[in-house]
Amino acid sequence: MADVTVVDHPLVQHKLSIMRRKDTPTAKFRQLLNEISLLLGYEVTHDLAIEMRTITTPLTEMPAPFLSGKKLALISILRAGNGLLEGMLDLVPSARVGHIGLYRDPDTLVAVEYYFKVPDDLEDRPVIMLDPMLATANSAIAAVARIKEAGAKHIKMVCLLASPEGVEAFRQAHPDVPVYTAAIDSHLNDHGYIVPGLGDAGDRLYGTR
Ligand code: PRP
Ligand code: URA
Repeated sequence: MADVTVVDHPLVQHKLSIMRRKDTPTAKFRQLLNEISLLLGYEVTHDLAIEMRTITTPLTEMPAPFLSGKKLALISILRAGNGLLEGMLDLVPSARVGHIGLYRDPDTLVAVEYYFKVPDDLEDRPVIMLDPMLATANSAIAAVARIKEAGAKHIKMVCLLASPEGVEAFRQAHPDVPVYTAAIDSHLNDHGYIVPGLGDAGDRLYGTR
């Protein structure tokens, strides 16, 4: 089974705690998610391929490391995935970007797809999937399955919060896809919400509801 990495850096944990507070306003929530995405992005890109090229500094020539291979693809699971996307793009501005529109049916908790547009040459690219919440994991499981259908082979999943149930389900469904998260919370409630969690990530990010 692929790894689950909990990014327990103090800056991540501090920012996440503020996001969890129910009275944290939308603008602050959005700003913090953007900041955390930089820190998660740093972790999840730690093994990008590097090649050496000769450069000239003001003093001498030297072999210097540069990113190599095909450009990274970032896939945002709409809506809330977009809250992680901007920061990741600040970190890797040349990344290609895809979007998968999914919403969770509130009664069945099944993920329903309404949009799919991804770069058409995913086979050789490292692919990073973005969604702040891994609750039942139905959405992430469906999104990764679609990305695999589209040819992706080197996939990682980045979220902000996960449930133990979601992590287990995701790993069963996609044992080859490592997960990066800022925290694994206690459990899911009867409505499929992460507890203690932070509520509905999309609503908090965009001020709906
Ligand atoms: C939320 C969240 C995830 C999903 C997680 O999206 O952003 O995509 O729920 O739940 P799951 O692991 O049980 O599938 P939601 O369906 O509320 O859509 P939204 O992002 O458009 O608000
Ligand atoms: N989606 C969210 O936004 N929050 C949860 O706790 C579960 C699913």
